[in-house]
Amino acid sequence: MKILVVGGGGREHTIIRKLKENPAVETIYALPGNGGIAADAVCVPIGAKDIDGMVRFAEEEKIDYAVVAPDDPLALGAVDALNAVGVPCFGPDKKAAVIESSKVFSKNLMKKYGIPTAAYEVFTSAEEALAYVKTCKIPVVIKADGLALGKGVIIAMSREEAVSAVESMMLEHAFGDSGSRIVIEEFLEGPEVSVLSFTDGKTLVPMVSSMDHKRALDGDKGLNTGGMGTIAPNPFYTKEVAAECMEKIFLPTIRAMAAEGRPFKGCLYFGLMLTRQGPKVIEYNCRFGDPETQVVLPLLKSDLLTVMQAVTNETLAQTKVEFSEEACCCVVMASHGYPGSYEKGFPITIPAELQEKVYVAGASLQDGRLVTSGGRVLGVTAAADTLREAVDAAYANVGKIHFDGAMYRHDIGHRALEV
Ligand code: AMP
Ligand code: GLY
Repeated sequence: MKILVVGGGGREHTIIRKLKENPAVETIYALPGNGGIAADAVCVPIGAKDIDGMVRFAEEEKIDYAVVAPDDPLALGAVDALNAVGVPCFGPDKKAAVIESSKVFSKNLMKKYGIPTAAYEVFTSAEEALAYVKTCKIPVVIKADGLALGKGVIIAMSREEAVSAVESMMLEHAFGDSGSRIVIEEFLEGPEVSVLSFTDGKTLVPMVSSMDHKRALDGDKGLNTGGMGTIAPNPFYTKEVAAECMEKIFLPTIRAMAAEGRPFKGCLYFGLMLTRQGPKVIEYNCRFGDPETQVVLPLLKSDLLTVMQAVTNETLAQTKVEFSEEACCCVVMASHGYPGSYEKGFPITIPAELQEKVYVAGASLQDGRLVTSGGRVLGVTAAADTLREAVDAAYANVGKIHFDGAMYRHDIGHRALEV
């Protein structure tokens, strides 16, 4: 089989490694892939948002199956376009991807179907939003409606911060068009859990739970990033919590999407907060999380391609999806300065015996050498019987890898280890 994977980060590298375990897979093409992915797939210089380019390529190469991993192409209708030329895909169509690409859509969906989430108001007028934040409860959370690379969320700890967040989104257009409509919502407190799930629109199978570490610096300080490290499973997510989420959140969500004429097929990601009033949805993503995938898929014992095809063919109910009982940790090694500006082009050394434990995100090949080319450069992982051992092993691996300016958090898993 010839498989196409759209995307070029650590998440895609993890997906590709897992797909390769199936002996029926002959060639994987990554669009555009990266310098590290090049060791596992054929990288093709077509951007993840170039829908016409990817459709042309899929037709020319007679691609048998495609996996569209990032949010942008999904929101742009990559799955619809590939399906239209007969290529079966893993990923939601454009109508279903809106669950991530519009926060207003997802908040209204949750309200309509009684799915627990933070209380909220939607604003299209800066004047009304400013009047609201002058009297609302503080802290308060302000979110731009559209996709804003994870940066469109501001947790305002003071009224002044809330006012300036509204001003920067609605008057100064800090996030472009995605800030012309904003959601202002109640501040929730409690441990955060990420649950990725496979769903074919009717059946939903949760994957092992995980925890992301979004802030750049130790102790959850510094700026928000795409994610600096992950652990799985998440110890806050007990069997009881899982059962409650299935009943009150997961199944109601896929039923709601079907009822809206937007059946969701692919990986549906639930960003949850376990509040004193029970689990609530912080956000939905219409795709695998990054770097959650780097700790979740290594624990998948079943064949990934088989499960993905069951999602596409709507036969998930008859398909076994098994996870290992082990724990896994991923430490992200980033470029000095990330998430702000950083230098690129530093050579990366990874000992041969660690290659399989490293998922490459922001690196390219220069004269055959792997060099840094992005903010998040590598996801260094380890799996073990206990979380403590997995964390220690991941850090031992980090210690053997080098590039100039490498920056990473030293406390990935700290909260989970206290449970
Ligand atoms: P998002 O981009 O929606 O995942 O938000 C980024 C981060 O902001 C989340 O991972 C949470 O830590 C935090 N956050 C978002 N919404 C809320 C909320 N209503 N209350 C508290 N924290 C929130
Ligand atoms: N790590 C969070 C995300 O992928 O959105």
